[in-house]
Amino acid sequence: MKTLKFKNGDQMPALGLGTWKSEPGEVKKAVLTAIKEGYRHIDCASIYQNEKEIGEALNQAFKEGMVKREDMWITSKLWNDSHKKEQVIPALEKTLEDLQLDYLDLYLIHWPVAFKPDVSFPEDAEGFLSLEDAPLTETWKGMQKTVDNKLARHIGVSNFKKEKIQQLIDNSDFVPEMNQVEMHPLLPQKELVAYCHDRDIHLTAYSPLGSGDRSEQMKKDNEPTLLENEVINDIAEKHNVSPAQLLISWQLHRGVVVIPKSTNSKRIQENLNAASIKLDNDDMEKINGIDYNFRFIDGSFWETGGKEYSQEALWG
Ligand SMILES: NC(=O)c1ccc[n+]([C@@H]2O[C@H](COP(=O)([O-])OP(=O)(O)OC[C@H]3O[C@@H](n4cnc5c(N)ncnc54)[C@H](OP(=O)(O)O)[C@@H]3O)[C@@H](O)[C@H]2O)c1
Repeated sequence: MKTLKFKNGDQMPALGLGTWKSEPGEVKKAVLTAIKEGYRHIDCASIYQNEKEIGEALNQAFKEGMVKREDMWITSKLWNDSHKKEQVIPALEKTLEDLQLDYLDLYLIHWPVAFKPDVSFPEDAEGFLSLEDAPLTETWKGMQKTVDNKLARHIGVSNFKKEKIQQLIDNSDFVPEMNQVEMHPLLPQKELVAYCHDRDIHLTAYSPLGSGDRSEQMKKDNEPTLLENEVINDIAEKHNVSPAQLLISWQLHRGVVVIPKSTNSKRIQENLNAASIKLDNDDMEKINGIDYNFRFIDGSFWETGGKEYSQEALWG
């Protein structure tokens, strides 16, 4: 398995299992299947509300000797209701308790958006905290403490545009080591990738298959179906692989991490097998050319928080 190297020598498997929308009743089996098939990286978040079941799976895998803790890479994310500096460690401790772990390999600020404590999803502007009340630079200080306290080996961010990363860099000695963002051929994020790679910041591609199992509420009318894209299907056919495998392989060839979600045993295995596909320059150029700036996860659900959480403020 290809890995991405961190400054301290740690290596992150470039292909991991996503777990958003993986139901508590299904995710334990999915994680155990993934580990059995050879996945060594699981992407989690407290807001996915399934970390307890993932913890049961991990515990079982370690106890039964399927894999050692040190050979797994576990990522999780700080939810928006815990952005105050002093809230970060307690939030991480809850995640560690649920996952039955002593430390995380990577902890990320999930969104550059802050809520009042214990508000999971604000119904109106009242539930939000402004970035003045909960500055990201303060959250970042809380994140650094998780490394000092050996609760997380690496820290980073998610859904951050370059200006927001730069703000953290300008106000701290600690450069984020990862930015996890939506990335696929409809949104290749070329500028952001170049900016991050210039600063030794790794990237993780979320929703790499187009996140087809999002709720209908989150979908737009007539949105494109990534897995049905003609260019993707033609090149997949040429290599005798599935469109999903091609999409995963394209990310691995670009030097980013990719975390497709599945709870289906056959597709969990199919996605892992994408790691051995070899694409040539012509394939890569054709896929790179698809770009038409489409977001499946556009952040419009934070717009009730006001101008500083508008789509323009998030991505523009
Ligand atoms: N940081 C963030 O804000 C953020 C946001 C979104 C996602 N993420 C992370 O990224 C992960 C992946 O993104 P995502 O869950 O949005 O979507 P995704 O991985 O793009 O797509 C998941 C969908 O694709 C299906 N699928 C999986 N393998 C397939 C295959 N080989 N062929 C056809 N369909 C396949 C899944 O169905 P089955 O399960 O039935 O196979 C599911 O419906 C998440 O689970 C989460 O860990 C992070």
